[in-house]
Amino acid sequence: MTNAVRLVAGLFCMLGLIALARQVFVNTVAAEDAASPALPAQLSDTTTHATLDARTPLPLTAMMAEHQKRNMRDHLAAVQEIVVALAVDEMATVEKAAHRIGYSDTMAQMCQHMGAATPGFTDMALAFHRTADTIADAAQHGDRKAATAALATTLGACVGCHAVYRQQVVDEPTWQRLTTEPAHGR
Ligand code: HEC
Repeated sequence: MTNAVRLVAGLFCMLGLIALARQVFVNTVAAEDAASPALPAQLSDTTTHATLDARTPLPLTAMMAEHQKRNMRDHLAAVQEIVVALAVDEMATVEKAAHRIGYSDTMAQMCQHMGAATPGFTDMALAFHRTADTIADAAQHGDRKAATAALATTLGACVGCHAVYRQQVVDEPTWQRLTTEPAHGR
């Protein structure tokens, strides 16, 4: 065999191995996708993910997005504390936890900042915090039934916002452009 023939044979062998490896990979992904066959294979592709998620994008810088998610996890923790306290009729604890997700000037400023590139978001966020105030009010009056009903309304606001918006991480120049555009109409 000449060196050229060896080289060509080696190349074919390598291509074959790559094709085989690819097939195994595709089959693995296909198996994982069996539960949701409508999804395309490249699930790690963030562009595909954004296309599949039809909710309105909420542009945020990476730092803001991380901050928002941390707040959200704390909202969930507050709801958990409220439910635990309601179950044992500890209304002072209900009131305290509800205040954590209630309206305050600091909270309002943060919501305004988060929604600066997205018309409608801040209003929804502020309305949500106001519903949490009604949990605290009912708890303060020792009215467990009203506090539970108010919690249901608050959870409706969580669900309502999640149904509409998804985070979209943008770089700093994009954020600046989105929040300073004169035609933005906020
Ligand atoms: C005004 C809008 C809005 C309200 C109200 C809201 N959220 Fe969110 N929340 C968001 C957005 C936007 C995300 C990011 C969703 C995404 O990109 O998929 C999010 C994400 C989350 C996450 C995921 C956090 C993570 O680490 O990934 C949790 C948990 C959460 N929210 C809990 C809550 C709870 C509990 C409430 C109500 C007590 C609530 N949220 C109210 C907008 C909202």
